[in-house]
Amino acid sequence: MWMAGLRFENRRDRDAMIAKESRIFVAGHQGLVGSAVLRTLRGAGFRNLCYSVRASLDLRNREEVFRYFDRARPKGVVMCAGRVGGIGANQSSPVEFMAENLAMGTNVIEAADHYDVDRFVYLGSSCIYPRRSPQPITEDQLLSGRLEPTNEGYAIAKIACVKLCESLRLQYGKGFVSLMPTNLYGPGDRYEADSSHVIPALLLKMLLAKRSGQESVSCWGSGQPLRELLYVDDLAAACVLVLQHDGGFPILNVGSGEEVSIHELAEKIADVVGYYGKLNWDQSKPDGVKRKLLCSERIRSLGWRPRTPLSVGLKKTFQDFQERIERSAEMERGRERQQGSGQSRLVKSDDRVV
Ligand SMILES: NC(=O)c1ccc[n+]([C@@H]2O[C@H](COP(=O)([O-])OP(=O)(O)OC[C@H]3O[C@@H](n4cnc5c(N)ncnc54)[C@H](OP(=O)(O)O)[C@@H]3O)[C@@H](O)[C@H]2O)c1
Repeated sequence: MWMAGLRFENRRDRDAMIAKESRIFVAGHQGLVGSAVLRTLRGAGFRNLCYSVRASLDLRNREEVFRYFDRARPKGVVMCAGRVGGIGANQSSPVEFMAENLAMGTNVIEAADHYDVDRFVYLGSSCIYPRRSPQPITEDQLLSGRLEPTNEGYAIAKIACVKLCESLRLQYGKGFVSLMPTNLYGPGDRYEADSSHVIPALLLKMLLAKRSGQESVSCWGSGQPLRELLYVDDLAAACVLVLQHDGGFPILNVGSGEEVSIHELAEKIADVVGYYGKLNWDQSKPDGVKRKLLCSERIRSLGWRPRTPLSVGLKKTFQDFQERIERSAEMERGRERQQGSGQSRLVKSDDRVV
């Protein structure tokens, strides 16, 4: 076992209390989940938060990670960093999805163990369960069958990290917990036509189609698969809950319990955007798994509930998206004014809006 001898063997860190004054490290604080976790921690009164941008702390680099923990000495960690993307991105870059998630995860978990972090929350994912899992999926179905081939590399990396957290917990009593969220959406998502998740991809396509007066929009797959969706602030509330109180479970699913077909979802998004063109379904593109519904009874037994209905969450997400477009357009206008050019630029489908 790595670093044996540097630890306090068999200490029950999972009984330790995380106070509002405790220092909490949020890894991946600029991402969809990380930014929601920061918002929620601040809202809950945590004031001793630490985080770092990738340029100063590349989590794939073990030495940088250990140096950071040595300086920051956090008592709690929420590990929201990762290489994340939709089906297309996973299929075209399986090496990066596997290697980077494995490196980031093991570096941060090992450093947290080494520097005696009291509570560690690792973000797993519902897409690491076997592709033919009976529904709703319970936590004990992990590793019970073959994975979805379109994201196998990503899933294997995340399963290794979930199991590492579980082993630290079982063998050494460490307060390390993995949350398995369903598909997430909300403010701060990434908007890339071919590599982002279904909601930002559709919001972006429909907004561009509306702006350019396009008569139809092409959507991936058959539209038939069912998806459970969760507003990201509801997941962040679950992260803060388990950060404060260890519920006694190594793995906890976090889902809304409500399913919607991709077809229905696309119609709801068209409604929110105000796009009245036709939706065409491109069946040459993969559907991914047909259905994925989590059983979230464990986290519900700890008092967590989803709070945000899909219609409300989609409106908030679109509002955030528009504000970000407006901000980036304003920055662009500023740059153009400086360069003496009057040309304006719309968001293009290959832009990354951040
Ligand atoms: N989104 C979902 O639907 C969903 C569902 C289930 C589980 N999850 C899990 O939740 C976690 C967060 O997902 P997300 O949607 O928030 O992803 P995201 O928006 O892409 O954010 C990922 C974050 O990780 C950071 N990061 C990536 N590589 C890094 C590196 N080498 N060093 C330092 N930071 C790095 C990114 O930094 P930059 O800002 O520099 O890029 C970003 O802040 C992931 O583990 C994911 O598997 C997500």
